[in-house]
Parts: sequence; C-alpha cells; structure tokens
Amino acid sequence: MEQRPTSSRPFAAGAEWWRQAVVYQIYPRSFADSDGDGLGDLRGILSRVPYLASLGIDAVWLSPFYPSALVDGGYDVDDYRDVNPQLGTLADFDELTAGLHANGMKVIVDIVPNHTSNRHAWFREALAAPKGSPARDRYVFRDGLGPDGAQPPSDWPSLFGGPAWTRVPDGQWYLHLFAAEQPDLNWANREVRDDFLTTLRFWSDRGVDGFRVDVAHGLAKNLAEPLEPLPATPDPGGSPLPPGTHPFWDRDEVHGIYAEWRQVFDQYDPPRIGVAEAWVHPSRRPRYASPSGLGQAFNFDLLEANWTCGELLRVITDNLADAQRHGTSTTWVLSNHDVVRHATRYGLPAGDHVSSTETAKAWLHSGGAAPGLDRRLGIRRARAATLLMLALPGSAYLYQGEELGLHEVADIPAELREDPAFRRSGGAETGRDGCRVPLPWTVGGPSFGFSAGPAHLPQPAWFGPLSVEAAERDPASTLALYRQALGWRRKLQGPESLEWMPGTNGQVLHFGRPGGWRSVTNFGPGAVPLPHGNVVLASSPLHEGLLPANTTAWIIPGS
Ligand code: GLC
Repeated sequence: MEQRPTSSRPFAAGAEWWRQAVVYQIYPRSFADSDGDGLGDLRGILSRVPYLASLGIDAVWLSPFYPSALVDGGYDVDDYRDVNPQLGTLADFDELTAGLHANGMKVIVDIVPNHTSNRHAWFREALAAPKGSPARDRYVFRDGLGPDGAQPPSDWPSLFGGPAWTRVPDGQWYLHLFAAEQPDLNWANREVRDDFLTTLRFWSDRGVDGFRVDVAHGLAKNLAEPLEPLPATPDPGGSPLPPGTHPFWDRDEVHGIYAEWRQVFDQYDPPRIGVAEAWVHPSRRPRYASPSGLGQAFNFDLLEANWTCGELLRVITDNLADAQRHGTSTTWVLSNHDVVRHATRYGLPAGDHVSSTETAKAWLHSGGAAPGLDRRLGIRRARAATLLMLALPGSAYLYQGEELGLHEVADIPAELREDPAFRRSGGAETGRDGCRVPLPWTVGGPSFGFSAGPAHLPQPAWFGPLSVEAAERDPASTLALYRQALGWRRKLQGPESLEWMPGTNGQVLHFGRPGGWRSVTNFGPGAVPLPHGNVVLASSPLHEGLLPANTTAWIIPGS
C-alpha cells in the first residue's frame, strides 16, 4: 500500500519559509542530557541533530534555555542574552544553531516579555531601590489597600493560583500574573521596550530565524489608579466583554509593541519571524498575526477540540477563512509543553460540552485513574489526527515525543513535581510535568538513554518500548509514520488552499489540496469506502480496502 516519497524539494525557502513550515518544539531540559546531571542541555540537543534531520522538519523551536532558577521550567528568565550554565554556553548555542542550519533546519527561540524572573538584575535593583524610583518603574509596584496597606492593590489573580501580588519588606506590592518568582514588567516604560529590542537583535545577529513570543497577549496593562477590578465573568449567554477592555489581557496597546518588533525583524534578510502565544478569542488573533505585527499566531482551536468530525470541520473552516482574510497562514497545534498529550486526550471519554483538555485535567488530577484511559484508542486517534493536521494548509507545530506516540505521565509523586501551578494551587492543579518527562531514546539503561544518570522527572517503565531505539526497529511505529508523513508533505505541499470533497459528512472529513493530494479521515464507528486514487499513507492499516474507524489516509491521483 505504501509508496515512498521520492523527492525532497526544499519548499521552505525564502522570506515566506514560515508559512507552511513544520516546526518541532524542544523543551531543552527534557530532550537529551550530555553531561549526566539529569537535566537536558544544548549539547544534548546538538548530539541529536541527525535525529531531528531524520524527521523531515523545517525548524526547531527551543523553549527557554536562558539563565534561570527553573521555577517555571525556564519561563522565569534571569538574563535574556545568555545561556543557563546548567544547559550550556553561548558557544554551545552557536554550535547548535550552525548544526541545525547545516542540516536545513531553522531556529526559533522563545522570548518571555511579560515577566522576568525575580533573580533578574532589574528586579534585584528594584527591591533595593525606594518606592517611586525608576528601578521600580520597570515593574509594577503599588501600595496595598486598607489602612495599613496590607491588602493586595487589586483583586487580580495569578494564573498559577493565589493572588497576583506579593508584598515586599517596605510594604509595597509587586504584580506577577504567574508565579511570585515571575514579576511582570511595565511595558509603558521606554527602557523595558528598548531592552527587548536589544535582545531581539542579539539573537537575530547570532543567526536565530525567529521568536516564539510567550504570553503575547499580556504585556500591555491598564495601570491607571485606582486599578480596575477584574471584570465579572459574563453569565452563560450574556454579552461578552467588549474586545480589548480587560485590564491585563489582550489590550489594543500591545500591538504598538509588536509594531516596533516588526521593524527590527525586517532589518534582517530574510526577515526574522514572530509567532504569538496569544490565548485570545479567535476574532482577536489576526491582529497578532498581522504582517505589521508578529506575523503569525498560534491557533489552539485544534488542540482544544474534541475528536469529532463536526468540531474539526468547524475549526478548520473558520481558521482557514480567518487566515486568508488577514494575509497570514494558519498554525496548527495538537500538543505542547503546557497541555496533556493528544494521545491521552483522545483516549479519554468525551462529553458533549466538555473539551478534551478539561477531561484530561480531571484524569490527571486522579493520578490517571478516572475516567478510564483507552491507550490504544488514544494513540490510534492521535495518529489519525496528526495525518489530518499535516495535510492542512499552513504551518504545523509538533511537540517532542509526540512522534514516539508518548502518552501523558500521570503518576508523578507530589514531591517530585516541578510545575509551580501544582505548588501555588495547593495541588488543585496537577500541573504540566506529565508532558515534560524526559524522552526515552533507548529501550533500557539509565533514564532510557536520556542521560547517563536518572532524569530530573521520573520516567515510567512503559517508556522503554516507546523509545526511539524501539521505534526504529518497527516499521509500523508512530515514528515511522511521522517520518513518512513529513516526507510526503514536503513532496506534495502546494499553495495554501483546501477544497472540501464529496463524502464529507458527520462521520468523514475529506479534503483536497492543489495537485490532487487528498486526505480522508473516518471518525467512526464503521469502516467506509475510500475515494478513488492511490493511498500513499494511512495512520492505521486499511481493512479489506476500506478505511477503518479513527483512521486517516492520504491519497494521490492514480489509475
Ligand atoms: C506560557 C508558557 C508556559 C509558562 C507561561 C508563563 O504560557 O507556555 O509554559 O508557564 O507562559 O511564562
């Protein structure tokens, strides 16, 4: 049934390389460890460049590797223009960039502008400086409420639990929308803005091709006194907040910041790219993705959708229409370092009005006990979803380990959990460690080939059979499927358009791409006939010429 792709046309070339690129996300602490300390590092990634090249991806996105106490996995940055000594040096970074470039892969780094860490030189300076000083103005310091100022300045909550304000010894409070170790910057301060422009140039000059912008919908805040209270959540069915009016999320002023970033991006050839992590209403996303802004924004709709034909049809149609209207390309994401892996989400029972991400959180909270996880069904659907995603126009972001078919790890003992969301919420949120468990490279050995010693998060025994070593021996492995799919995608990719084909109904999604490439997914329950043509790839074996449930096939014209 399977034909091998025969050409490797470098379609990701020129200034627009990002539009349909496949980007592979590396979470550096958990990818590969070169020095045996149990923490992944840059030289570990360097040693795996041949593996990355073998996948057939266009770019690598590195989650933060900057100096950091790793309170929030590196999203608490001490210094934006250096490398965490536990993870390597700037020379290692240059070598890694050169190695990736030499193998035809671009490099995207993560930039974290909403907050620094509490160990950043600016924050230390702010703590040592008096109230009202220029050093405090780089952050958001305020007096508290109540007669002795002992109440936080506003009711704003931290996303990781508890209040978004922490008091300092002289009685003032500082804002942190995330952990207390992540003080929010004041983006109305010119020095803050200029310093980030310097950081963008620093990495661009080193050859970085683009930036993934963390919490891109934060940054701009309404800090006018008195601070606005948090808007009440509208009743179900009530009218939503007028766009751009929340005190700290998705305010219109944020786009002035990205317009300045764009000027820096465009000083390079090819222009550097930006991709916004903006958890905003879909109608607001295009502003982040505008050509005069960051250029691209993550669309998390696919990730949040349940495995149903109707939901996916809607998500695909809406997002393609939006991207086309606004001159950008769509992004697709099924997994990343913040969510339960998609193989697991799809193996859990779905409710009609409950998103798979919510069900997965409940499952995680139960330590993986309930509701029951059907691992085989999950991986079967995950493979089908990946083929469907990779056939869509636009760019696709993959997360390390999904190519091995890894499930989420649910049973990490509380004392070993690292995510601040777990600690700050008093355990109410289990957190994101389960998708950040270090990758298994070998069937056995200490930490399955990740490190010479134990890994910083414990790996379950079932990682061995899912290791790269095991997958490479198995032609039916998920790794083999990803490699074949990326090979075919490279060969078949054409202009960014999609046509719905006859046969799309409540059970089947069938679309065509320019040049006759078609993708058909059967959501079940029964097998369905395949459209005419040559099946070049299928996410699970066909059954007597029929497309079984929870399977995607790619078809090209043929006799
Ligand atoms: C983003 C990152 C997440 C981090 C948060 C705070 O959402 O993806 O991992 O915890 O920002 O920086």
